[in-house]
Amino acid sequence: MVEPIQGEAGVVVPDAGYLKKVRELCTKYNVLWIADEVQTGLCRTGRWLCVDHENVQPDILCLGKALSGGVYPVSAVLANDDVMLVIKPGEHGSTYGGNPLACKVAIAALEVLEEENLAQNAEVMGKFLRSELEKLPQNKVKIVRGKGLLNAIVINDSFDAWEVCLKLRDNGLLAKPTHGDIIRFAPPLVINKEEMTQCIEIIHKTITSL
Ligand SMILES: Cc1ncc(COP(=O)(O)O)c(C=O)c1O
Repeated sequence: MVEPIQGEAGVVVPDAGYLKKVRELCTKYNVLWIADEVQTGLCRTGRWLCVDHENVQPDILCLGKALSGGVYPVSAVLANDDVMLVIKPGEHGSTYGGNPLACKVAIAALEVLEEENLAQNAEVMGKFLRSELEKLPQNKVKIVRGKGLLNAIVINDSFDAWEVCLKLRDNGLLAKPTHGDIIRFAPPLVINKEEMTQCIEIIHKTITSL
């Protein structure tokens, strides 16, 4: 089971070619590969799925979060026929499974992702964000990393990420630490250049004042 980019671990982006190797190894040893794309999936990293960056397919795929546009609890597990057809109709149930309202919300969210080209927006806005984050003073921000709109900075460990997030909040921007020294920036997929510029100004102001 692999997250194509580890989210809670601090937006850890693997080396190029890593996912291709995972696919090759799992195929070679007849192991099912489950990709957890709850965070990375559905346009977040600049592609529909993060595995699309390397043109590979897992055997089982987990989706959530953006699947409902954030307005309703919806998640999904997708699989190829070899896996999915092992379960026959009626063999698998769940109290809240097959919720028609949730399905309608998910379909609407998917339509918005497509119609508004949000994968491309995430790619373009993400590059802009990282190029600006790279300009932060290096004695305060050691690393900038991410893909699309899933990004993080690793701050000098003499600062506490939680405290920095509180300062960001006071200045008007919500961000969440993932570890003592890592702050994740995962803005909405619909963010535009003007809004991103405002965010960057707040981040610069907050970090330089540390
Ligand atoms: C990568 C990843 N997988 C799974 C989950 C769990 O998803 P859910 O909250 O829908 O159970 C999360 C939640 O944050 C997540 O980030």
